[in-house]
Amino acid sequence: MTRRQRPRRLVTAALPYANGPIHIGHLVEYLQADFWVRWNKMNARDCVYICADDTHGTPIMVKARELGLTPEAWIAKSHAEHARDFADFGVGFDIYSSTNSQENRELSEKFYAALRDQGHLRTRTQEQLWCDHDRMFLPDRFVKGVCPKCGATEQYGDSCDKCGSTYSASELKSPACAICGSKPNLKPTSVISVKLSDFRDFLREWVPAHSPVEAANKLSEWVEGELLDWDISRDAPYFGFEIPDHPGKFFYVWLTAPIGYVSSTWQLCDQRGLNFEDYWSRGDDEIYHFIGKDIIKFHCLFWPAMLKTAGFKTPTQVFVHGMLTVNGEKMSKSKGTSITARTYLNHLDPQFLRYYYATKLTSGMSDLDLGLDDFVNRVNSELVGKITNLGSRGAQMLAKRLDGRLSRLDHDGRALLERAQARRATIAAAYEARDFARAIQEVREIADEANKYFDEKAPWNLIKSDPEATRAVLSTTLNVFRLLAIALKPILPKYADQVARLLGEASYKWRDGEAVLEGGQVGEYEHLATRVDAEKVQAMVDASKPAGTPLNSNPPPTKSPPAQSSATTAQSSAAPNVIDIDTFGKIDLRIAKIIAAEAVPEADKLIKLRLDLGPLGERQIFAGIKSAYDPAQLVGRLTVVVANLAPRKMKFGMSEGMVLAASDPNESGGTKPMFLLSPDSGAKPGDRVK
Ligand code: 2FM
Ligand code: ZN
Repeated sequence: MTRRQRPRRLVTAALPYANGPIHIGHLVEYLQADFWVRWNKMNARDCVYICADDTHGTPIMVKARELGLTPEAWIAKSHAEHARDFADFGVGFDIYSSTNSQENRELSEKFYAALRDQGHLRTRTQEQLWCDHDRMFLPDRFVKGVCPKCGATEQYGDSCDKCGSTYSASELKSPACAICGSKPNLKPTSVISVKLSDFRDFLREWVPAHSPVEAANKLSEWVEGELLDWDISRDAPYFGFEIPDHPGKFFYVWLTAPIGYVSSTWQLCDQRGLNFEDYWSRGDDEIYHFIGKDIIKFHCLFWPAMLKTAGFKTPTQVFVHGMLTVNGEKMSKSKGTSITARTYLNHLDPQFLRYYYATKLTSGMSDLDLGLDDFVNRVNSELVGKITNLGSRGAQMLAKRLDGRLSRLDHDGRALLERAQARRATIAAAYEARDFARAIQEVREIADEANKYFDEKAPWNLIKSDPEATRAVLSTTLNVFRLLAIALKPILPKYADQVARLLGEASYKWRDGEAVLEGGQVGEYEHLATRVDAEKVQAMVDASKPAGTPLNSNPPPTKSPPAQSSATTAQSSAAPNVIDIDTFGKIDLRIAKIIAAEAVPEADKLIKLRLDLGPLGERQIFAGIKSAYDPAQLVGRLTVVVANLAPRKMKFGMSEGMVLAASDPNESGGTKPMFLLSPDSGAKPGDRVK
């Protein structure tokens, strides 16, 4: 009789915006879901992990424009970077797609048509803020002004950072466009929205059964509250999909984003010859969404309503996690704790963060703190000191002194291994319940007992009198270590594979933990994990501070002084290319806005720019960036200029300064890529750069 297949599981993590880098805050979710998917897979469950870039919306369009790129080029660049970051952190997506796909367009139109045809849409006229200069309606985050409640300046159009009140952008006092700084006007436009209140009865039943209990109060407040209409259209210009029966209107990013879960599944099924309707339209396959607590409303109200209307299955469960703090505070750029995935990878082993997050992750919604000192201590004392040491001591001694051959376990050894095996059920239950902290706690306790056994047996002494008894002790130690590697595999897959290779075995499945390895040959020991160096953590923090922030006051010592350097004095003035701060201070760098740009027809490389330097007035500058930019794309963007460079008379006119651009010194030629510098949003023409 064949065992009935357990339902397959489809797991998603929220789609990251294509607009910026992946950071360690995002990774809480991608790693958490990865642990769970890997647990399912190693426990013989058919499971797929789906994700994609969330590519639509105004910020992406504006950013691309600032960079002088098409939105498509910008999202392609982000996609490549995100995919590389995830791969390097060992996040094993089955597909990492994009919401800007043909499949997603087709499905978005289908969802929309279902909502429209079933009478759940309405159109109404609304006054919105319009920037005449940028010729667009401004989303809330693109308007800045004075909070109508507390008077704080520099607040966004939706809520005040200072007093926490929420309001609509039209209530903001002295509003200014965040792109160009000009004053927006109210202008009427028609907006299509979903009548969420149509779904009240459905949500009353659906929400408690599929959302976390911890969110129940908030959700029921919403479900029993007003259930306001949800706006799903945005006016051109907008990067996204145009609404078929409303030219000039586009689907709001939050409509096309979750549909990305379905369209990515569709693509995966095409790649693997599977039927995607089995996942989303019928049958008992399960769907799980991992999300952060900030986007519950989208996943627990709007999304099930959309799925139901379009005739799709709704998620089995929405798993919600809390936010990351670093050293007990919100991530901060100036403190260097807003750390991108890439900066982390440039300094530290990704397995350390996987391990550390696992020690903190439960199925609950509370925030998770990455204490940087705690991180160093835990990785060093637990992962390296307790766990890895067992393997390295056991394997190295067996290989060096006893030909690397494993033997039968002795009486004490067998008892120890059986006690460890008895904990596997608890570990499995913890994984199933996404209580990774609990799984790690069990692992740690097993490791403690095994270390005690090792120290009591003192194989380094025993070998002098009884090599075979020593072999049994080392074989026990390695068996327990093997069990730990199996137990840690969802969290540390690379580590577990290395252990499997060391012991001459295939990549582990959960059931392999039932076996005892007696006999066989231990291979060459490769380093599994070396201690985290606190200086590297500090270097990572320093590298995450905005340029210009003084680095750590105790920088790590340089590796070795230059061979012939006898004098340590006046090193900086002697070193080539090093200038002191006063010399740097002589360069007057300013933010400038490009107000006109035209190619100089007679020059291969030059574009003539007219720039606004705020209080310093306007300047004309010739910039050698023709190969890289279309002049039309430059107008309106901010950049950085050297404002006190002596004016130079050129063949085509005076050049009154210099525009800063980056390029690779090893590249040359007429099409050499060049990248104009841009400030973060908020900088104004004339601002000093230092
Ligand atoms: O909050 C965010 O970062 C969104 N990009 C998440 C989208 S999740 C899903 F709906 F696509
Ligand atoms: Zn504007």
